[in-house]
Amino acid sequence: MGSTHPNLAGKVAVVTGGGGVLCGSMARELAKHGVKIAILNYPKEFGDQTAQAINQSGGEAISIFCDVTKKEVVEQACVEVIEAFGQVDILINGAGGNHPEGSTTNELYSEKDIDDPEVRSFFDLTPAGFNHVFNLNLMGTLLPSQIFAKELLKTKGVIINMSSMSAPAPMTKVPAYSAAKAGIDNFTKWMAVHFGETGIRVNAIAPGFFLTEQNRRLLTNEDGSYTARTIKVLSQTPMKRLGKPEDLHGVLLWLVDDTFSGFVTGISVPVDGGFIAYSGV
Ligand SMILES: NC(=O)c1ccc[n+]([C@@H]2O[C@H](COP(=O)([O-])OP(=O)(O)OC[C@H]3O[C@@H](n4cnc5c(N)ncnc54)[C@H](O)[C@@H]3O)[C@@H](O)[C@H]2O)c1
Repeated sequence: MGSTHPNLAGKVAVVTGGGGVLCGSMARELAKHGVKIAILNYPKEFGDQTAQAINQSGGEAISIFCDVTKKEVVEQACVEVIEAFGQVDILINGAGGNHPEGSTTNELYSEKDIDDPEVRSFFDLTPAGFNHVFNLNLMGTLLPSQIFAKELLKTKGVIINMSSMSAPAPMTKVPAYSAAKAGIDNFTKWMAVHFGETGIRVNAIAPGFFLTEQNRRLLTNEDGSYTARTIKVLSQTPMKRLGKPEDLHGVLLWLVDDTFSGFVTGISVPVDGGFIAYSGV
């Protein structure tokens, strides 16, 4: 069978956070369609593993050290991408994550939590924790977008941001992450409008609950069984399962291929097994 997306062959994708579970999987999928991949990850070793897997299976990939929160570092990474591949057609802003000091231990306020040293209450959230999460998710999307948009303007390229189901309605316990991802949805629309006439399209993918390294401690116990939170998540997910990285591939291929989504910009697509559709009743 031929490729379902033949016009992706020969394009170049920059994937920040491509050393991680979801965006590593997305990078490998694009590579199968002939897209040349530049993984920009910090630490670089994780990116090396994704690039190596792609190269070993007949694709073409490079791994570049890049902390997405540092402008000069992203600029240098862009120079290296252009040296290697000459152009950029797709930017996936995948680097993202949370920080313990931006999260509360419990879902709901309780006075007894305040003096409990084992519990992080609302009053224990720190500016450093919030800054870390805002910086990584939001600044880490702005800076690569700014730097690579200069290349994307030449190719009429595509930007894909990574949102979350914590953006439309905040998830309990993770206020910093939820606010940052709501910011991603908002910024996705802003960039889509700003670049509307240029040919650059900007969209986001909003995964529901996927079991990855980032949330393993939240979703599973030491013995691999589901936590109370996961059981609650599944009770709110009509399809009654967690997401698998491959669940993102179809939306990704649709959004990066102009022949499929050429008039689509400024949206955030839920991939959540129906989580957002369910009122809980
Ligand atoms: N896992 C989920 O259920 C889920 C749900 C919704 C949204 N997301 C979002 O999807 C994206 C990928 O998530 P994942 O679960 O694959 O996470 P992951 O932790 O597996 O991958 C994130 C990658 O980003 C890298 N990274 C961290 N800080 C960086 C920095 N400053 N510069 C460059 N790279 C950096 C990490 O090394 C890692 O390789 C994130 O934006 C995440 O917030 C994940």
